[in-house]
Amino acid sequence: MDFFIKSGSPEKQRSACIIIGIFATRRLSGPAEQIDSVSDGYLSALLRRGNIEGEIGQILFLQQIPGVLSERVLLVGCGKERELNESNYQKIIQKTMQTLNESGTLEAICFLSELHINGKDNYWAIRQGIEITKDTLYSFDKFKSQKTKKRRALHKLTFITQSRKQLSKAELAVTHGKAISSGIKACKDLTNMPANICTPLYLAEQAQQLAEQHEKISVSILDQHALKDLKMHSYLAVAQGSSNPAYLSLLHYKGGETAQKPIILIGKGVTFDSGGLSLKGSAAMDEMKYDMAGAAAVYGTLKAIADLNLPLNVIGILAGAENMPAGNAYRPGDILTTMSGQTVEVLNTDAEGRLVLCDVLTYVERFDPECVIDIATLTGACIGALGHNISALLTPHNGLAHELLKASQQAGDKAWQLPMDDEYQSQLESPFADMNNLGGNAAGTITAACFLSRFTAKYTWAHLDIAGTAWRPAGPNKGATGRPVALLTQFLINRSDDQQ
Ligand code: BES
Ligand code: MN
Ligand code: ZN
Repeated sequence: MDFFIKSGSPEKQRSACIIIGIFATRRLSGPAEQIDSVSDGYLSALLRRGNIEGEIGQILFLQQIPGVLSERVLLVGCGKERELNESNYQKIIQKTMQTLNESGTLEAICFLSELHINGKDNYWAIRQGIEITKDTLYSFDKFKSQKTKKRRALHKLTFITQSRKQLSKAELAVTHGKAISSGIKACKDLTNMPANICTPLYLAEQAQQLAEQHEKISVSILDQHALKDLKMHSYLAVAQGSSNPAYLSLLHYKGGETAQKPIILIGKGVTFDSGGLSLKGSAAMDEMKYDMAGAAAVYGTLKAIADLNLPLNVIGILAGAENMPAGNAYRPGDILTTMSGQTVEVLNTDAEGRLVLCDVLTYVERFDPECVIDIATLTGACIGALGHNISALLTPHNGLAHELLKASQQAGDKAWQLPMDDEYQSQLESPFADMNNLGGNAAGTITAACFLSRFTAKYTWAHLDIAGTAWRPAGPNKGATGRPVALLTQFLINRSDDQQ
C-alpha cells in the first residue's frame, strides 16, 4: 500500500475512484460542490431525492457522473460540519477504507483530507489519514491457512492538498505517516505473536533482524549468564521458572553526533505472564501473551525513527522474560537482591514486570542517558483507572511529562498523567527487606511507578503504563493496537526538531 499527495479539482482527476464528503443534513462539501456544478446539479438532485443524508457511516458509490473523469465517485457521510472532530474523522476514514477495500478498488484519490477538523491542519489530516487507513486494513492472518487478504486490495491512495504553500508540509505528513504506520505494524505483528513462538529468544532474534536492515542500528544481546554477571537477580528470578530463558536485547540507533547523550526506551517484554506461583485465573489468561507489548512498542519505534533517519541517539531495550510456575520458580516470600543492591520481598509473583524493569533501569545508568522512558503493560489497575483508550504517564519530572503529553496530543495517541506523591511510597514498605513488590490494593498503577522510581534517581525518567491500551481485549477487534509507537515516535521527532 502506498500513499501520495497531489492538488487539483475533483472532476479532473483520472482515477478508479474519487472520495468526496457530504455533510449532514444533505449538504455538499467544497469538492462535492465542484462536482455538482460540472455535472449540472447531479449531486444536489441525488440529495434531494434522499439517497444519502450525510450522517457519519453513510456511504454511496456513484458511477459515471457527467463531466467527471473518474469512473466512480464514493460519497462519504461526514456528519455535521461544525461537529467534525478527531474521533469523527477517524470513523469517517475507517468506514471509507473498509468500503473501498471490500469493493475491490485498487486505487483512489481522497478529498477528505481537505475537511476542516477543529484545531487541526492539513498535515494532521493527511498523516492521520494514512495511519487510520493502515490501521483499518491491518489483519493478523499469519496462522490462518485461508488468508483474509483480498486478491484485489487497495494499494494506492492519494490525498489531496489544495494550496501549493502547504505542499512541503503535506509531503512531510506522508513521510511521517508512512514511517509511523510501519512502526505500528511492526509492533502489532510482534505483539500478536503467540507465546509458544514469541519467546525472549524470539524477541532477541527480531532485534537482530531489525539491526541487519538498518545501517544506523546495531544490536547487543545479553543472555542469562551475562545478566547473572551483572547481578540482575531480580530480573532473573522472574525467568527462573520458565524453560524459555531470559534475554535482554539492546538496539543502538546512532543517528546523532557521538557526543549526544542517548534517549533510552525500555520495553517490558514478558512473553507470557501466567502470574507464576501466584497463578492468574484462567479467564483471559491467553491475553498475557501480550505482556511483551512494551518491548514490541520499543521495537516498532526504533523501526520508525530509523526509517525517518532522525538525528538522535536512541537505545531501545527489549527486556524479555517468561513468568511461569514451576518447581524451580521464585516464590512469594523470597527476598531478591536487585542489581542496585536494594532488596525486595516478593509478596506476589504476578507483580513481575517491576522486578524485570528495576534491574534494567539500574543497568542503563552506564549509558549516561539524556532521559529514560519505560513502557510496560504493568498493572491491571491501570485499566480500572483509565480504561482502554488512554495510557497512564507517571514521572517526577514535569518537563518530560509536558513533552510526552504534548507528543501524545499531536500523535492522537492518548495519555494522562497520574500523580506519584511521596506518600504512596509507604505502601511499598516491608518488614524484612528494603521494599515489597506488591504495594497493596489502593492505587496499584501509582505504587508500581513508585517502585520503579527507586531505581531511577540518577537520570530523568518517565513511565508509561499501557496495560489498557496495548491491545483490544476479547471481542471482534481483539488484538494488538501498536500503541504507543505513535506517541514515542512523535516525542522523538519533536526532540530532533529541537536539535536543528
Ligand atoms: N501483566 C500484568 C498486568 C496486566 C493485567 C496487564 C491485566 C493487562 C491486563 C502484571 O504483570 C500483573 O499481573 N500485575 C498485577 C500486579 C499486582 C499483583 C500488584 C495486577 O495488576 O494484578
Ligand atoms: Mn503479572
Ligand atoms: Zn505482567
